[in-house]
Amino acid sequence: MNLTVNGVDTTIESGPLTSLLDVLREELGITSAKAGCEQGGCGACTVLVNGASRRSCLTPVASIDGAAVTTVEGLGSPEHMSPVQQAFTHHYAAQCGFCTSGMMMAAQAYIEGGGSDDHEAIQEALGGHVCRCTGYVKIIDAVAAVARGESFDLSVTAAGTAMTNIGGMA
Ligand code: FES
Ligand code: FES
Repeated sequence: MNLTVNGVDTTIESGPLTSLLDVLREELGITSAKAGCEQGGCGACTVLVNGASRRSCLTPVASIDGAAVTTVEGLGSPEHMSPVQQAFTHHYAAQCGFCTSGMMMAAQAYIEGGGSDDHEAIQEALGGHVCRCTGYVKIIDAVAAVARGESFDLSVTAAGTAMTNIGGMA
């Protein structure tokens, strides 16, 4: 089997029923997708498959043979963050960070699909993504800011305080 992972053509050695989550984490060493519930209920494992957000824990790798897979590592780097990554940083939309990769990938799919800054629409797009830390408000604010095409000063948070720590973003 073959996948294009974050733009790199990759031959997959794992068995056909191995989950995409395990292929990413265990075979390829790409660890942004998190193993949360592993039952489709938390969203922590979400990645893009051919541009659509998908629970990688429920995706047998054989079912997406030949697909393009994007993870947070494919959105941008610490030096060149994507708009979604910048917005999550600026709006302090991550605390422990466990949900953050999945949230970002769902947000990326929403933005690429032309999503607006309407908070109800964003809530729907992120539905099923569980966060135990943030209360969701800052996450929704971050996605809305990207939808409005805002640019972000990463030296300060949205509250105007100096940025010191974005814990768990990796
Ligand atoms: S780990 Fe896949 S949805 Fe929870
Ligand atoms: S679960 Fe901790 S930041 Fe969402």
